[in-house]
Amino acid sequence: MRSEYCGLMSRKHLDQTVTLCGWVHRRRDHGGVIFIDLRDREGLVQIVCDPDTPATFQTADKLRNEFVIRITGRVRNRPEGTVNPNLVSGEIEVLAQDIEILNPSLTPPFMMDDEQLSENVRLEYRFLDLRRPQMQQNLRLRYRTAMAVREFLDRHGFLDIETPMLTRSTPEGARDYLVPSRVHPGHFFALPQSPQLFKQLLMIAGFDRYYQIVKCFRDEDLRADRQPEFTQIDIETSFLDQCEITGLMEALIRDVFKTVLGVALPDPFPRMHYDEVVGLYGSDKPDLRVPLKLTELTEVMKTVEFKVFRGAAELKDGRVAALRIPRGGELTRKEIDDYTEFVKIYGAKGLAYIKVNDTAKGVEGLQSPILKFLPETAIRTILERTAAQNGDLIFFGADRAKIVNEALGALRVKIGHERGHFEPGWRPLWVLDFPMFEWDDEEKRWMAMHHPFTSPADGHEDLLEADPGAARAKAHDMVLNGWEIGGGSVRIHRQDVQSKVFGALAISPEEAEAKFGFLLQALQYGAPPHGGIAFGLDRIVTLMAGADSIRDTIAFPKTQRAQCLLTHAPNTVDEKQLRELHIRLRQNS
Ligand code: AMO
Ligand code: AMP
Repeated sequence: MRSEYCGLMSRKHLDQTVTLCGWVHRRRDHGGVIFIDLRDREGLVQIVCDPDTPATFQTADKLRNEFVIRITGRVRNRPEGTVNPNLVSGEIEVLAQDIEILNPSLTPPFMMDDEQLSENVRLEYRFLDLRRPQMQQNLRLRYRTAMAVREFLDRHGFLDIETPMLTRSTPEGARDYLVPSRVHPGHFFALPQSPQLFKQLLMIAGFDRYYQIVKCFRDEDLRADRQPEFTQIDIETSFLDQCEITGLMEALIRDVFKTVLGVALPDPFPRMHYDEVVGLYGSDKPDLRVPLKLTELTEVMKTVEFKVFRGAAELKDGRVAALRIPRGGELTRKEIDDYTEFVKIYGAKGLAYIKVNDTAKGVEGLQSPILKFLPETAIRTILERTAAQNGDLIFFGADRAKIVNEALGALRVKIGHERGHFEPGWRPLWVLDFPMFEWDDEEKRWMAMHHPFTSPADGHEDLLEADPGAARAKAHDMVLNGWEIGGGSVRIHRQDVQSKVFGALAISPEEAEAKFGFLLQALQYGAPPHGGIAFGLDRIVTLMAGADSIRDTIAFPKTQRAQCLLTHAPNTVDEKQLRELHIRLRQNS
């Protein structure tokens, strides 16, 4: 039907007769001559129709945006002064001899090069939205990334093995999507939150190196970096220790960035302990492009008079920390008030500050509503530890550590981006030595920080019962520019340790047997030491594309409200279908 892609036409086709297919991107009528920008997945080419070929000219006159057409014509140089250096085809144009309308189009709800589109309209007309060059690029980037992953893993002996989509619940911390069974009344499959247990079983089965680029399903609150169905690059290995696993996995990511973007990531990636990362950045997924750091002040504030600080410092899980903003003295009252409102989103009750005007003048050189509550020794410690310079401003957070970390951690990144404390580039990081468990205030029990199959650190087995809060895990998260792009661990490969962890999570032996009996059993048949990771493909591609949301790198994503605006899923089903599934809907819930 055609001889070449529109977007690949170039001088090498000069004087040839070509046949092209594509969509009318724009039609311009220059009184007597009609210009058409014809678009396909490779880009644009300019078609010229002049009245010397009347039939063709008449067809050209009828064309509207997004009509899909086929044209045959002769390639010629563009007249001088009309060359477009931004297009591959920018030096040439095609003089149309024949135009065939393959299919007309209704007037599209938006122009393909409109940058300010409402996302709802885009998602409703996703088939048109995906015609936009940006979306075409994003999905190609996604494909090339997945290919680079497959090539690397294939070179390193990994086997792609599929695992079931209809399965039973694997706890990854989110709610399950359930699928009712017709054959077994009242029984449900769960869609996998991840293939975690299957990949462990594949290691027990002796496959040694497994990977899969696989859909996972989680019914959780959605954000810009979360979708209810998303794609993992899921990986598991046997007989590698944590250092070897992380080494191989960062080699994978380095290779992918080199192949797809031509970017050289650091070798090796920096590694930090969880406590250190949270202490310095208030987050376990810090954006290292922002160099600002928190300063620890909890001990110092235990002795001061200022209730806000001392009260927080004396809490069992309290923290007082400072965030120095270089040249922050320029901040206006209004800007400080806005930042104070911002940290309240994270539960902070206020945002104390000190402006450092002149360090030589001691306390006289400072400006702050809280100075009168702080002894001079404490003030001196603050200035020393933050290494404050004249013209700086120091913010303070005092509360439960979780609140201080979230508030100052987010403020750090916000101010960094807004006030130019930001170094562009790619800043990967391994975060290691996570706690095994987190206390859940609502459920009043320990929860796995990763998942319940994560191995405790060497020598920490006894802590599982004695002091669960102190037990560390052989877990590793990969962070890139403030996003958690991958998470994994060395797994428990002994049944007795797995049972202990279930115990620490208040999962009774009966419940463990009922839910994970198959795993506990398999662990007793020569389970090898094993471990792995899962990367979020959507997130990696989003970062590579420089997009704001993972919705921009998924062909058919769900909205923030977990709906598909294109197909209107989820939706009601027939009474007959429900009856077959043994389901009767509750009336008022
Ligand atoms: P985890 O839950 O950390 O680990 O998930 C692995 C990676 O998947 C991505 N991710 C998501 N991406 C988009 N939308 C979501 N809702 C979403 N949830 C997670 C993140 C995350 O780092 N079984 C373990 C892996 C393992 O231990 O090997 C797991 O699923 O980038
Ligand atoms: P107050 O004593 O409540 O008037 O607060 C004095 C200063 O401390 C104000 O600048 C508040 O914004 C700040 N502040 C109050 N609570 C906290 C807190 N928990 N953490 C940090 N600053 C706070």
